[in-house]
Amino acid sequence: MTNQFATTICCIGAGYVGGPTCSIIADKCHDVLVYIVDIDQTRIDQWNSDKLPIYEPGLDDIVKRRRGLNLFFTTDVDTAINKSDIIFVSVNTPTKKSGIGAGMAADLKYIESATRRLAQVAQSSKIVVEKSTVPCKTAESMRAILESNSKPGLRFDILSNPEFLAEGTAIQDLLNPDRVLIGSLQTPEGKKAQATLADLYARWVPREKIITMNLWSSELSKLAANAMLAQRISSVNALSALCEATGADIDEVAYAVGKDTRIGSKFLKASVGFGGSCFQKDILNLVYLCESLNLHEAADYWRQVITINEYQKKRFIQRIVKSLFNTVTNKSIAILGFAFKKNTGDTRESAAISLIKYLIEEQAQVHIYDPKVEEEQIFFDLIEPGVYSNENQVLHKVKKLVKVHKDAYSATLNTDALVVCTEWDEFTNLDYQKIYNQMRKPAFVFDGRLILNSDKLRKIGFNVEVIGKVAGPVTVEN
Ligand code: UDX
Ligand code: ADP
Repeated sequence: MTNQFATTICCIGAGYVGGPTCSIIADKCHDVLVYIVDIDQTRIDQWNSDKLPIYEPGLDDIVKRRRGLNLFFTTDVDTAINKSDIIFVSVNTPTKKSGIGAGMAADLKYIESATRRLAQVAQSSKIVVEKSTVPCKTAESMRAILESNSKPGLRFDILSNPEFLAEGTAIQDLLNPDRVLIGSLQTPEGKKAQATLADLYARWVPREKIITMNLWSSELSKLAANAMLAQRISSVNALSALCEATGADIDEVAYAVGKDTRIGSKFLKASVGFGGSCFQKDILNLVYLCESLNLHEAADYWRQVITINEYQKKRFIQRIVKSLFNTVTNKSIAILGFAFKKNTGDTRESAAISLIKYLIEEQAQVHIYDPKVEEEQIFFDLIEPGVYSNENQVLHKVKKLVKVHKDAYSATLNTDALVVCTEWDEFTNLDYQKIYNQMRKPAFVFDGRLILNSDKLRKIGFNVEVIGKVAGPVTVEN
């Protein structure tokens, strides 16, 4: 079967990165056979079903178009490795939970186990592509594992090819990337492998966007890009606190600042705090790297980006409590949005989680609606099975106080306040008069994403509090 294809690729890890990236390769290169493998049978079954494990606009069509032709999802990791010339390693690299570097360093156990498997089963030389975000110099460890555990005479050329896709726009980011980065050792063999991967991307990405560089620069560039994006959000969020205290308006300030072409207008939206699987993890990783190299001032600088993010979440919670007459106990609060941003069902590090946990601690009744996050996931995030010693108590409390709804109208019925945590487009078009009529009075709106029309809401009768804008006067209906 392999013979009818020019190249065979195996992607280890069928997650948010590996799944979309390698599906696009299959769609763009019909002569390339693509296996996406995972140890998680449920995940693979989902990839092979009508309901894919991740929601990403445009992904369904691509997978359905190529599945069974040159795109296969399987748990048969060994066979796929053996048939392939190029191996993408796209496994998860979460922050370590215990041991040296706990809470900061990336946990490389999944990378290591995938690499060991590869070394053990490979019968021929391979190009190994590091796709997961990893600390600088991980390729060196992979090389050591591969060389000391594989059959004699085999070559493994390791490339760093970090993924810059953002969730919710993954398909567009993959189809039209700002750049594709390929790092390799600057040896003739390394450069040859680099050229092979560059040729694959060149099937749909203009050559001038494919950048080649040394391995360590490529690994560090990914961490650097995420750190600088997160730093911009923390900068604008720090300014939002100042706006609330002075009467300046963060949207106006961000607009004025972003008009400077040296700064640019993107990624200047104040919010309830950034979430997602990458920013916090990658900054902690960078901080750990700096510390382990005795660059303490550099470590402190990057750590501050996370400190401000936590500060922003806390400030928003405090504002909610203060506005609701200094107590949320027994109040009923609707949460609109649970995902860490719009157009994704992903909830990792979502600001909504910390906010809701606080509300539960304070015995508030919480009514949640998110267009894409499943009820099961919401309860999983709030209960965190396996984390608390008093799990049963947590479970009981969460089940008693939290209800997940199928739409925003049902979630807001008889509530005292609604809080926008995710910037889903549909939240801007709701019938707020209808919502106001069915809420308890005085009715409050807390806009953590600056997406609602405050003037219109105030005219309806709502008390509106928006991040980065001065608090409005409290309206009490006669
Ligand atoms: C990020 C990077 O953008 C991407 O290049 C990298 O490959 C992975 O990490 P992602 O985490 O999917 O992507 O989402 P992103 O769009 O960057 O948003 C991250 C968080 O920042 C979200 O919670 C988002 O709501 C928040 N954000 C983003 C803001 O609060 N304000 C902004 O202006 C932009
Ligand atoms: P990311 O957002 O980086 O893509 P995910 O957690 O969504 O991370 O996906 C990583 C996937 O890698 C998971 O589905 C996990 O089961 C898989 N995985 C981890 N280790 C291995 C391994 N050794 N072999 C195959 N798959 C693995």
